[in-house]
Parts: sequence; C-alpha cells; structure tokens
Amino acid sequence: MSIHYDAERKTFTLATCNTTYQMMVNELGHLIHLYYGRRAEGTMDYLCVPRDCGFSPNPYELRSVRSWSLDLLPQEYSGSNAGDYRLSSVQAVTDSGVWGADLRYLRHEIRSGKYAISGMPSALDRGGDAETLSVTLRDAVSGLEVELLYGVFKQGDVITRAARLTNTTDKPIRLEKAASVCLDLPYGSWDLIHFTGRHTMERELNRAPVMNGIQTVSSLRATSSHQHNPFVILCDHAAGEDRGDCYGVMPVYSGSHRTDVELDQSGSVRLVSGIQHEQFSWKLEPGASFDTPEVLLAFTHQGLTKLSQVYHRFLRGNLCRSKFSNLSRPVLINNWEATYFDFTEELILDIARQAKALGVEMLVLDDGWFGTRNDDNSGLGDWFVNRSKLPNGLEPLIAEINRMGLKFGLWVEPEMVNEDSELYRAHPEWVIRVPGRGPAISRNQMVLDLSREDVVDHLYEVLSGLLTQYHIEYIKWDMNRSVSDVYSSALPPDRQGEVYHRYVLGLYQLLDRLTTAFPDVLFEGCSGGGGRFDAGMLAYSPQIWTSDDTDAIERLTIQYGTSFGYPISSMGAHVSACPNHQTGRTVPIGTRAVVAMAGTFGYEMDLNRLTDAEKEQVREQIVRFHAYADLIREGDYFRLTPVDSTQTYAAWQFVSQDCRETLVSAVESRPRLNLGPICVRLKGLDPDALYRVERQDIFGCRIPPERIPMGGADNVYSGASLMYAGYVLPLLSGEYPSVQILLQKVP
Ligand code: DGJ
Repeated sequence: MSIHYDAERKTFTLATCNTTYQMMVNELGHLIHLYYGRRAEGTMDYLCVPRDCGFSPNPYELRSVRSWSLDLLPQEYSGSNAGDYRLSSVQAVTDSGVWGADLRYLRHEIRSGKYAISGMPSALDRGGDAETLSVTLRDAVSGLEVELLYGVFKQGDVITRAARLTNTTDKPIRLEKAASVCLDLPYGSWDLIHFTGRHTMERELNRAPVMNGIQTVSSLRATSSHQHNPFVILCDHAAGEDRGDCYGVMPVYSGSHRTDVELDQSGSVRLVSGIQHEQFSWKLEPGASFDTPEVLLAFTHQGLTKLSQVYHRFLRGNLCRSKFSNLSRPVLINNWEATYFDFTEELILDIARQAKALGVEMLVLDDGWFGTRNDDNSGLGDWFVNRSKLPNGLEPLIAEINRMGLKFGLWVEPEMVNEDSELYRAHPEWVIRVPGRGPAISRNQMVLDLSREDVVDHLYEVLSGLLTQYHIEYIKWDMNRSVSDVYSSALPPDRQGEVYHRYVLGLYQLLDRLTTAFPDVLFEGCSGGGGRFDAGMLAYSPQIWTSDDTDAIERLTIQYGTSFGYPISSMGAHVSACPNHQTGRTVPIGTRAVVAMAGTFGYEMDLNRLTDAEKEQVREQIVRFHAYADLIREGDYFRLTPVDSTQTYAAWQFVSQDCRETLVSAVESRPRLNLGPICVRLKGLDPDALYRVERQDIFGCRIPPERIPMGGADNVYSGASLMYAGYVLPLLSGEYPSVQILLQKVP
C-alpha cells in the first residue's frame, strides 16, 4: 500500500519509491501539511510547532489558545477570510454575499487505481500501481465541499493532485478562485526556478531566491504561453544538477494558469498553483461540482537532473495517451521555411522527391493549402483546398507522396478564423469578442469561441472529415495568437467569468474526440512555436514544435530550458536552412543536425538547394539518427553544462536505461582560441564497467579529422574515469563546430 491512514493520530502518509508525503487532521479538523520530501518513516506531527504571533488570529473555538493560528499552520488547501492571511487556494462567495471558506475535515477514502477528473487530461495508471486518497473538507457556512484528490504513483515517483469543489446547498455558490494545489514548506529556504520567454525564445531558465512577498508565474492568454511556462521548481539554494532538494510543480493545463509563491512573515513558503483566477469566476449551481486541473508533484534530493528524469519518464509513460509516445517517429520534412505561403503542387513534390531520396519518411504540408490562404491575412476557418495553389486538390498530391514511399502530414489551425473567410462571414457570432468593441487583432486573426458546443462540433466535423477523406498520418495543430476580449455570446452575464476555462475544456474535448477516433494519426502541438508547450497538450500530442526559432545556437538555450520539465522526445526540432531565417546566422549543417537530434529530428528547408556534399551529410544524418533514436527517446537525459552567455560550449548526454550505451553531444557556441582542452564529466554510467568509444563524429571543424587525436588506450575508459575525471573532447575549431560521441560498454 502506498497510502496509509493512522486513525489514532489522524495522519495520512503517501509513499512513492523515493518520497514521503504526510498530512494530519488537527483538533479543529483542518488538514495540516506535515512533510513532503525524501522517503522517511514515522509520524512527523512534531514538525508542526504551536506558536504565538501578534496579529495572527486564533479561531473562535480556541480563542484562549494564543499559540493556535491558521495564519501560521502549514495546510493542504488553504481557505480564505477565516484568519489565514497568506495565499488562499479557494475563494467562494455565497448567494448571500459571504466570502471565504474555513475548510474542515469531513471524510476520506483510500482506493486502488487513479481518480479521474472530468473534461481534462490527467495521469493514467498504466503500471497498475497507482492509489488514490480522497479527503473531503467542508466549509460549514457556505456548504462548499472540497474533495482533495491525491494520486500516488509509487514507481513513477510522482504524486498528482487535483480538487473537486461541490456545492451542497440549494443556492448557487460563485467560485472566484479554485486552485489545484497548495504546497506549504514551513522549513528551509528555497530558490524558485521558472521558465520565461517570448515568441522565438521560449522557456529560458530563471532562478532566484524566494523573496519576502509573493512572486507570480502566470498567463492570462488562454494558453500556457511563450512568456511564462506553468512548470516551476523550488529547490534549495545549493541545489545543482546532481544534488539538492528539488520540488517540481507541473500543472496539466494548457490555458490561463497561475502559480504564486509566498514567503511569509515567519519564513514559511507557500506555493499555490492552478487556474488563473484573474478574470475567472465559476457559478456552481446547487449540487454541481467543479474539477480543477491536475498538478504533477515530484520531489528528489538528488538534484535537477533527477527531477527532470522523473518528469520525462512520467509524461512519456503515464500522461501521453498517444501510441506514438514510446514509438519511433518518422523523420519529417516540413515545407514552411522552404516555401512559406508560396508553393505549387510541383514544388511540394520536388521537395518530397529530394527528401525521399535522402531518407526522409514524411512530408508535412504547412500553412497555406486551404481557403484563400495566400498570406496570413485570410482563409483561416475555411478548411477546404486552396484550388489556386493545388488545382488538383489534396488527393493526387497525397497519392503521389505516398507512392514515393513517404507519409503525408498536414498543418491546421482550427481554433482561429480570419475576418476574410467564409466561416467568419457565415458565423461572426462564433468569435470571442466583447460586444460593442472591435476585438484586438493579432496576425490578422480572431479566436473561435471553443466554449461553445456548436463550434467544437463544427471543428470536429471539419477535422474528422479531412482525416477520413484523405490519407493523413500526422497533424500539426497550430495556434497563432493569444486570446483577448474574452466574452462568449453563448453564455449569460453571470457565467462570463467561465469563458477562459470553458475555452480550454472545449479544446480538450475536441482533441480527445479526434485522438480517440484517429489513434493512428500522430499529432504535433504548436503555438507559434512553443507557446503552448505544456503537460496538457502533451497528453494528446507526444511532440510539440519547440520554437519558431530554428537557429541551432538559439535552440541550445530553448531546448535546454524545455528539458527541465519536458521529455526530449516531445521537442519538435528541425534542421533548417542557413543563413537562418530568424537570426541570419550560419551554422554548419552537421551541428544543426546534432542540435535537432536532441528532439524529434526533421528538416525544414528545400533539400534541393543543398550542395551534393551537404546532401550526402543529410543522408548520413538520417541513418545516424535512426541508429540513436531509441537512446534519444527512451534514454535518461543529462545536462552536462548550463547553457547561458557565460558558456563557450553546451554538452548533453543520453544514457540507455541499462547503462550499456551513451551518446554525448557537444556544440561550441562561442569561438575559443588558445584555451585549454575541454574535459567534460559524463554521468549516469556504471562506474565499474569499461566503455569503448565506438564513434566520434565531428562537424564543422576546420582541423582535418586525421589531426584530431583520440585519447585513451584503444579508446576504452572506465565508467568511473569518465564520470569522475571526464572525457576530453577533441579540439574543435571553426564556427560552431560540434561533436557526437557514442560509447558502449565493453562486454
Ligand atoms: C507558426 C508555426 O510555429 C510555424 O512552424 C508555421 O507552421 C507557421 N505558424 C505557419 O503559419
């Protein structure tokens, strides 16, 4: 059993392989958080020390006990307006205008298997070892019940949390806030790591001590956003890649989110995470329930790499529904940067032919194939073929591509509409906009109101029609603006605060219906690159286009930041043309491939425009990628260097689960002259085994290969020496040279 209830001391203990989580019901019925951390036996109620603090009030029942205050107690789900002035988890307003919630224990249940939440993706009990703890709390005044749901994944080392809020009265209750999780850390001092950015530079790592006051990581865009990814980490100040206490908090949610971290008057840290509560309110009719999104919690005392590895495995194995999650994906060519909107059937076939000749397995036709889509000002919403570009339609094009031996994939942006489109002319009321005000326009497009059932049904009809009519084996699902002017013509005034969340529920419903009906289609998420790179989307699409910045050197930073939470196999990464279309930089094609191999791997250019020598390299890259594909997808990922402006090179490593094989990649990101050799300490190997360098491929280096020495007798090293002393990288020189080294255990 992973969940234990001690009836005498009223404590709940949840245990995964390496962690323990403990809470207790106190004498007034509040659910007190005791501990989350490294595996530890015993009851830890001694950690909760009564103390008196001026201006921290005492509950009425215990008004003579000055040392008892909700304002000082660590809690599992903080209430509001009842004497705790720190971050609330829930804000409820009754019909008679009473705000707040004082949540007290009502009942609990322990059951095998994993709870489900309605309308949203959540972790699946694939290993059959999950257990559920449900603890229901109640606010006596409002009649609001909060069922706290805990999913304990022993092997996965993850605890999932969600909350179900139910109105048990005969009058409506308005929720103004309904967080998924509250995590109190009464002891220790912590750094907050979060991932910020912008279009074409997503998920840059930020790390700073948690300061007095409240720090917020949030989005109000109805997407998880380029700007603030929902995944956050709290770690001790000394934590690094290989050591230190680290907590991960990963919402399984793709819409407006919010995580607040507060350092309070007594040095205690409270983190509250879930749906963004700005512009949110939800009307709970009598008897109705509201489910919050799920949050995946992980803890390790072994540093950031370990934390990432826990998430990588868990997202691949327990979250993603797609059969492709653990399968090798086709090496694709996407025509976007090759042609943008300017293509013909013949041009696409030319690109496909050359790609096929070099070993590519799938052609993806990007934006521009539908409606009157000749630039980004019109056509979105009209998901029928653009006959001016493809006069013969899609059928013969797909047939010819299939005949060549390539799969065919298609780009769509279903959530959007252009004013200049047949769909908008027929259904202007389907757009999210505030009555009487022209909505803010972005990329000349507007957002369809996915909170409406008729819109979701329409999109399902259109998309399932495409997938039925044509032999499409991959869908790139794009979303190229943030939502604003939030108002739905289908909802009454007192439900307008629900539109943001209902939009996401509509999106999930659509994705759920499509991925269930078409399980053989590989979905790739996208939102102007990585604007919706989150666990919610990963439940349906095992890969997401990581960024619209395809410059390999910029991608080092983007993919590095993304790797903290999300698996390598989920990062869409392509080799694109040089000079790069975003930065103008030229990087050797070999190095571009090394970087794209830390992802799904594919091409985004017209390969016809390469020289013969470059074409040969592409052919070889695809063979090499296939040789490494399993290791890259399923292996443990290690960041060997930070990626920031102080570094001259970036290195990372994949290690097979059985430690037999490892692939090391390093890219020189800044030229270095007359510096000493680089010795990089490898990780995750068997210290007692011997490893032989089976391959060492160098790219973009000005020094001829025969003048680059290989170290070590017979190129054999002990695992211990590789990890404790390091591997000396070959001397590289030139603009952005790189190296890829494959080592295997000597039998
Ligand atoms: C944004 C995507 O990230 C690009 O890859 C491309 O598909 C364009 N949209 C097309 O409009």
